[in-house]
Amino acid sequence: MDFGFRPPIWLAKGGARQAFSDMAATRTSNLDETFYQPADAFFAANNKVGLTYDDITLATLYSEILPRNTQLDTHLAEGLRLHIPAISADMDTVTESRMAIAMALNGGLGLIHYNLPERDQLSQVSRVKYHVQGLIQDPIKVAPEQLIGDVLALIEQKKFGFSTFPVVDARGKLVGLLSGHVVKPRYATKKVMEALTPRQQVHTITKKELGKDPIARADKFFTEHLGIHKLLVVDEDDHLAGLITMSDVERITQERKAQFKPARDAQFRLVCGAAVSATRNAFGELDRGRILNHVGALVERGVDVVAVSTAHGHSKGVGDMVRVLRDAFPKLPIIAGNVTSAAGVEYLADCGASAIKVGQGPGSICTTRIVAGVGIPQMTALYVCAHAAAKRKVTILADGGITKSGDIVKALTLAQAVICGGIFAGCTEAPGDVLEIGGKLYKQYRGMGSLAAMKAGSAARYGHDKADGNRKMAAEGIEALKEAVGSVDRVLAHLIGGIQSGMGYLGATNLDELRQKARFIRVSPAGQREAAPHDVVELKTGN
Ligand code: XMP
Repeated sequence: MDFGFRPPIWLAKGGARQAFSDMAATRTSNLDETFYQPADAFFAANNKVGLTYDDITLATLYSEILPRNTQLDTHLAEGLRLHIPAISADMDTVTESRMAIAMALNGGLGLIHYNLPERDQLSQVSRVKYHVQGLIQDPIKVAPEQLIGDVLALIEQKKFGFSTFPVVDARGKLVGLLSGHVVKPRYATKKVMEALTPRQQVHTITKKELGKDPIARADKFFTEHLGIHKLLVVDEDDHLAGLITMSDVERITQERKAQFKPARDAQFRLVCGAAVSATRNAFGELDRGRILNHVGALVERGVDVVAVSTAHGHSKGVGDMVRVLRDAFPKLPIIAGNVTSAAGVEYLADCGASAIKVGQGPGSICTTRIVAGVGIPQMTALYVCAHAAAKRKVTILADGGITKSGDIVKALTLAQAVICGGIFAGCTEAPGDVLEIGGKLYKQYRGMGSLAAMKAGSAARYGHDKADGNRKMAAEGIEALKEAVGSVDRVLAHLIGGIQSGMGYLGATNLDELRQKARFIRVSPAGQREAAPHDVVELKTGN
């Protein structure tokens, strides 16, 4: 054996610290490469077995990245960019407007489910889109001749969360401001013109005066005008051109300092998605007219993406539906699924889908694999689908089966974002009441393929007709409870911390780098046990 001393290369080169760092950063060990393989080599070597999150682990790599400095932005489709790669599932116990607002405020996206009348889904989308605005380009206005009662009805019908409105005449000229404190049932029979604050007393600013940074200008205005909370924007001829509210300005000013900014559209409204159903007419054909009317109305309300959500996306019905939407709305981002094969991804991409949901049977409330005997463990499905997606230049979403932040890191080595149901179903913002059982708090969580959910509308997603009745419908999901876990903010903070931690271990600054750098190895059953707390009496969970 040779124990002779050889001077390290970095000493010979000089600048010891720098050289050592360079060497460590670039050095690759053949031994590591043999054990910890990149995706292509790893999944090819394991092509006889379906692998899911707990079957694999990621190898650490040399890193100069602190977790808090990692970026989580993800591009899902032309015009659809999120600041965190997380989407709440289009399920009736997970995503309505409250959840969608919370997801978007945290930088993610919520998909409003479709187990509700179409007009109610439209209202849900409106609530998200009107939630918080910076400069509202086209504010809701009222006319001087209207009754206060009409205004109250409008608020109720559209579910507006505000009650102060600019008043304009038939040509759009500003007449005054109807303040929230007079929009009360006791004044219902009075005309708006009797109750408004007249034009000369309303604070306004011209578009030109707002300059390049309208929010900073408005911030200054509100500081200088004690007690004024609304600033109307007018053009040179006193036509109403916008509205800025103090609460929006304050929120936006705070957001500018936050690491993960809310996900917004080009008009600064929160992003929102909606699931759409492949509705059929009495002859069993796609009901084109009804589908296009509904999606048209969603688009009018500002929906950012629609999701054609079904259990079997690689099917003629789903392909036809995606084609119909793509033809009618060439620029609308369309999510479609679910699939677990490369052919399925290619098919939906060729029909016009922009992002494809991957997952058949991994969900926490799913029984598809038990009932139908089909479905692929999630990591293998994601690898196969990611390959096809890269060729077709579409993105994939890892849908279902995520129980912890480590699963998300693993999913993001192959997918552009994750869709979660169970993780968010126990949050305050999920639909449904909190139940107390044995001193513990729970919320209901059910599969969209459970009998109860299918009867409420989602039967088509599983290839049934809700008129079929129980006899013919084979449920592919269960009804369950999730422990109440508090706010979405809290749950996401924990998940994001975990994702950033994983990226730090891999030396990945952003999600592209995470996908490039990931090295995989399978885990034995004993290795899985080793990964969780063991041989201790647990006093507090990590959450
Ligand atoms: P997690 O694991 O996040 O899964 O709770 C949510 C995803 O599961 C899918 N889903 C179902 N799959 N039967 C199924 O086989 C069902 O009843 C069902 N409901 C939802 C869906 O993709 C969701 O995003």
